[in-house]
Amino acid sequence: MSRKTNGMRIGILTAGGDCPGINAAIRGVGKTAIIKYGMKLIGISDGFTGMINKEYSELTERDLSGILTLGGTILGTSREKPFKNNGKKKSEIKKPVLIKEHYEQMELDCLVCIGGNGTLKTAHLLSQEGLNVIGIPKTIDNDVWGTDITFGFDSAVNIAAEAIDRLHSTANSHKRIMIIEVMGHNAGWIALYSGIAGGGDVILIPEIPYKEEKIAEYLLHRVEENKPYSIVVVAEGIRNPGKEKSVAQYLSNRIFEMTGLETRETVLGYIQRGGTPSPMDRVLATRYGTAAADMIAAKDFSKMVALKKNEITSVRLEDVAGKIKMVDPDDPLIIHLKNMGTSFGT
Ligand code: F6P
Repeated sequence: MSRKTNGMRIGILTAGGDCPGINAAIRGVGKTAIIKYGMKLIGISDGFTGMINKEYSELTERDLSGILTLGGTILGTSREKPFKNNGKKKSEIKKPVLIKEHYEQMELDCLVCIGGNGTLKTAHLLSQEGLNVIGIPKTIDNDVWGTDITFGFDSAVNIAAEAIDRLHSTANSHKRIMIIEVMGHNAGWIALYSGIAGGGDVILIPEIPYKEEKIAEYLLHRVEENKPYSIVVVAEGIRNPGKEKSVAQYLSNRIFEMTGLETRETVLGYIQRGGTPSPMDRVLATRYGTAAADMIAAKDFSKMVALKKNEITSVRLEDVAGKIKMVDPDDPLIIHLKNMGTSFGT
């Protein structure tokens, strides 16, 4: 334990949508900070809301025991965006000022922000305001720029793939077209990976615009080939030109109208975001957490921990903020799937 780090006060918050693995990351940061460096860990409640309202409490090493496998976040979360201006001038935005004041009053030496794109943008803006900040990327959507993978993604893909497996029984028995809508915000990562793992016949992602007629043609061709059932995996972020609330419902109606084939839709929803993290997510979150603590000790601030080619590294928050990592439509994975006959609705 170095004298330089001993007694440093590390604030930690989780913001944005919850996802499996957050508690494993908190544990990774906290145990390393406390055991290796003699730091203190200050848990901030409910994302940036806790910094604005000064709601926090110290987390001891004992508090971090037994949370590795827990879903959600022990700190609570919110979608509070303190820099959102709502038409106000920069000088009138009070929340960042409060956060700075409270950071000082809590005597923090650093603030660890665990979150997705919105959170990491706020983390960057706070670092520009002079706070010592470290970002840790988490989201089931896997859409954070600068890292190959975010924790939460593997668990979500596992759940979505299992759901697709289960839809196969009804699809097969009833000879139906089963349409499943998965999350992913504006990116298609969950749909692509769960679609591959679950053997989706059609996979629709926002990065590859689809044509309804192509989907209808493809499904009818399958019927001609003595494959009377199909699984269609759709990302929530694809175009929904209809009045239906979900794009799965829209496509279900359209496919029936165009083909006469019996269709059913499933919107997986929050099931894919909850519950215990997969072993892979536990490992990744632990790696991110421990790396973040080491970066704090080295005073390597204004950065996000990241994974590139399975090596832990870091990227500047400045480079991450405001970007989204989308699926590349020319990714070899997509080409291989096309070669195997999977339809992307094109
Ligand atoms: O970012 C994670 C995510 O689950 C997205 O996949 C989804 O679009 C969104 O959050 C849902 O947000 P909320 O929890 O605010 O309904």
